[in-house]
Amino acid sequence: MSYAEIYQRSLTDPEGFWRERAEELPWIEFPPTILDQDDNGAWRWYRGGKTNSCWLAVDRHVDEGRGAQTALIYDSPATDQQISYTYADLRERTARVAGGLVALGVGKGDRVVIYMPMVPEAVVAMLACARIGAIHSVVFGGFASPELASRIDDARPKVILTASCGIEFANVIPYKPLLDEAVRLARYKPDKCVVLQRPQCLAELNADQDLDWVRWEAASEAVDYVPLDATDPLYILYTSGTTGKPKGVVRDNGGHAVALHWSMQAIYGVDTGDVFWAASDVGWVVGHSYIVYGPLFRGCTSVLFEGKPVRTPDAGTFWRVIQDHKVASFFVAPTAFRAVKKEDPDCKLKRQYDVSSLRYQFVAGERLDTPTYHWLKEHLGIPVIDHWWQTETGWSICANMVGIELMETKPGSPTLPVPGYDLRILGEDGRELGPGEEGAVVIKDPLPPGGFPTVWEDHERFVESYWAAYPGFYLTGDGGYRDEDGYVYIMGRIDDVMNVAGHRISTGELEEVVANHPAVAECAVVGVADPDKGQVPLGLLLLKDGVNIDPQALESELIQMVRQTIGPFANFKRAVVVKRLPKTRSGKILRQVLRKMVDGIPYVTPSTIDDPDIVPEIEAILRQEGVLSTPSDLG
Ligand code: COA
Ligand code: AMP
Repeated sequence: MSYAEIYQRSLTDPEGFWRERAEELPWIEFPPTILDQDDNGAWRWYRGGKTNSCWLAVDRHVDEGRGAQTALIYDSPATDQQISYTYADLRERTARVAGGLVALGVGKGDRVVIYMPMVPEAVVAMLACARIGAIHSVVFGGFASPELASRIDDARPKVILTASCGIEFANVIPYKPLLDEAVRLARYKPDKCVVLQRPQCLAELNADQDLDWVRWEAASEAVDYVPLDATDPLYILYTSGTTGKPKGVVRDNGGHAVALHWSMQAIYGVDTGDVFWAASDVGWVVGHSYIVYGPLFRGCTSVLFEGKPVRTPDAGTFWRVIQDHKVASFFVAPTAFRAVKKEDPDCKLKRQYDVSSLRYQFVAGERLDTPTYHWLKEHLGIPVIDHWWQTETGWSICANMVGIELMETKPGSPTLPVPGYDLRILGEDGRELGPGEEGAVVIKDPLPPGGFPTVWEDHERFVESYWAAYPGFYLTGDGGYRDEDGYVYIMGRIDDVMNVAGHRISTGELEEVVANHPAVAECAVVGVADPDKGQVPLGLLLLKDGVNIDPQALESELIQMVRQTIGPFANFKRAVVVKRLPKTRSGKILRQVLRKMVDGIPYVTPSTIDDPDIVPEIEAILRQEGVLSTPSDLG
């Protein structure tokens, strides 16, 4: 069947379509219901079905005779190691770690926070939680203590799993002091922390709170998987919203498994036995879906890469990994290739490696700029597929579905909606817009399997943030349009969320930190286009009356505050003092106008602004400070 036929069928007969996709997987008990609504009124897939995501990802492959196949390749230029785990190895370790969690009193529905670098134990930890029905919440290792603390308070984990350090290029980042500080800051205290000691930096263990991972795992007894309801939560993953408080996106077991299992073949064009590599981090949704669950559900071999695109040791690392492990499909954020392109503009290093195994190059996480698209096309000579999705959906909303039908690619477009997503473009008045007209990109309910049914313990926020703006439609938060052929173009966030090097960051969260400085009366943080990172934050500051401070000293202090409160990956490096901020007469800062101004996009000064000269005045200050003179090569 063609893409168009499959897409149509998914919308006209969603239950029939998703029943068939569910039949492609084994179940402990096949779901009696395909789609219905829960007590909150949220759409749920496969209610009443029994499954277990760890069993689907690991045990069943061993039972089906794939125990000796490599499940996971840990490739770590950071530590100069390569270790392979078969599906049988993964079952053995996962069952034991699950037993260790049970011994610590963790059971179905309990939360476990995982704050770990890119080591195999992070994958084992996630699967071990899934095995016993505990809900994991992985926190990206780049987050500073206060961010970790707010997630601990929201998820209230019985146990935290961590490691003594992460490695960023040649820098060893000790995790344990960050964790200890987070536990100190959090109102809620976990029962225990289990620490994987890495030789690069040994952590000091506190006898009352901490356990040594290796001894704990060795002393644990393996436990079997428990049957779970398809609608039981598998994990919580916090993501930035428009306010400072992160949102706990909840993922369930059944719909997630069906969607990801299908996506491996239909979107990424790989199947059982193929090697798949997503060079992201287990702390992000890409890591959850396509380092851990998706490839393992499908019986692929997944690569877990602890390194960077450059300087580990050079800009040829990607090609080396593809060659060494015969990667068939590779997925990475465009920013990573921009880093490679900067160091090796003619892609000379690729010539040293045999990358003939590579069939498809996938990119997502931020807009794929046209220069990077053309660079990849020219140097790879294989389809370069931009696809668009987000933490909330868990898998692609738009893609060129190479496993169904490879369609024409158009630079700047992630192609067409994936089956199951009834995508529309709406104007501010809720009217559906036609070709070429830019508006809010929304999905008519229900979201397909894999989509999130709620925000952790805050269903009201789920409704308010995502479903209230256009009743019956899920608000993606992105703006965009469709062309005459229906191709979708995503133009960027229409809310106060930024995308910095493929990391999603809330401007509200940054503003809370900056506004905490004793010299700052008020501030606005906006994302500015950046040739390497896509966007970087810029702080616009109003000082308190009578404050006399050197602007450079203030900038340095603010940079440190953001690093220590949110984390270094926010890339907060510029803060400029302005005389006034543009506000409506009711006092709301006009961030949208500021966003457009800094990106050189024509803006209309709204009539509600208290003084129309303020924005040009800020623009002049930014030019004088050299903030707006950076040439951007983002096409
Ligand atoms: N732990 C601790 N610190 C981290 C970190 C982590 N896991 N990740 C990043 N940081 C730090 C970096 O060390 C750097 O610190 P510095 O300011 O002291 O130098 C800072 O945060 C900025 O990081 P980043 O902007 O990510 O730059 P980078 O040079 O470290 O890495 C890339 C560049 C392209 C490799 C990286 O940005 C990347 O992988 N981005 C893609 C993200 C992604 O996968 N998103 C999901 C969608 S695919
Ligand atoms: P996250 O939830 O962290 O995965 O971030 C999701 C956001 O990243 C989306 O809402 C988009 O703003 C952006 N994004 C992800 N993929 C793409 C893409 N292919 N093109 C444009 N923007 C993207």
